[in-house]
Amino acid sequence: MPRRGTDSDSTWDGAGVVITGAAQGIGAAYADRLAAEGARLVLADLKPEGLRSVAERTNAIAVQGDCSTSEGIRQLVDRATEHLGDIDVWIGNAGVDAGQGLHADEASWDLSWQVNVLAHARAARLLIPRWLERGSGRFIVTASAAGLLTVLGSPTYAVTKHGAVAYAEWLAATYGAHGIKVHAVCPQGVQTDMLAGIDEAAAAIISADGALQPSDVAQALVDAVERETFLVLPHPQVADYYRYRATHTDKWLSGMQSLQAKLDAARPLTDR
Ligand SMILES: NC(=O)c1ccc[n+]([C@@H]2O[C@H](COP(=O)([O-])OP(=O)(O)OC[C@H]3O[C@@H](n4cnc5c(N)ncnc54)[C@H](O)[C@@H]3O)[C@@H](O)[C@H]2O)c1
Repeated sequence: MPRRGTDSDSTWDGAGVVITGAAQGIGAAYADRLAAEGARLVLADLKPEGLRSVAERTNAIAVQGDCSTSEGIRQLVDRATEHLGDIDVWIGNAGVDAGQGLHADEASWDLSWQVNVLAHARAARLLIPRWLERGSGRFIVTASAAGLLTVLGSPTYAVTKHGAVAYAEWLAATYGAHGIKVHAVCPQGVQTDMLAGIDEAAAAIISADGALQPSDVAQALVDAVERETFLVLPHPQVADYYRYRATHTDKWLSGMQSLQAKLDAARPLTDR
């Protein structure tokens, strides 16, 4: 989607890009990287302060609000369309890790479902009809390696990130032949507030292959878009784990149980 009136063939140069959850962490790194690639950005988040400073340094419009509700997404799409003319790329990056273990409560399940899954469906419902009309559009979901594998400790996160990958896959299967490109970004540990918020033993397991910087995830996204691959795997080992899980499911589960055993000393069974 080159800038109108130029002959650039870069995906990003001049493209109108919306990024949710852009006040910090991975979303802010996408903003920095894509601004450097020449994208025109609309950034959204619940948090006004971080959002303002990322928007200032990337010359973006900031839209503060909830990027999971139907109303919040409609307002964001309207503001972005007004500013960009047309939205070329949507990056649904806002995510939550809410609720731990067996006793994760109803509110945590609901929040995880709204932000990690339904937000993508609500955005796609507004964007895809216009993209089908014009024959192009790119929908990017920041899911997680937890959406391809699992994650110890948080069933709400594991289940809803599987939902995020499944929704992206469904979009790709349904609209890929009509010019709609879809990517699911599936990192393991990335050094952000989200990783800092989980307990030390679980963070060590998630980060066993190295906790990346948010800028590494942005680089992986740019690379995957250039290669046009659906899965964006900033930790390449995840491809091996994903294959192993599919072909040796019981052995893979035994491996997960061994990792869980490392957490067991610290937590009673009923907390899991
Ligand atoms: N950090 C990791 O290890 C890791 C690994 C895999 C996937 N992810 C995913 O990457 C994405 C970004 O996470 P991060 O690590 O940068 O975390 P983060 O907590 O630093 O940033 C998430 C941002 O999303 C915003 N947000 C949350 N709910 C929102 C809502 N309803 N509306 C608007 N904004 C909202 C938050 O305010 C925050 O600024 C998430 O989807 C997360 O699940 C993170």
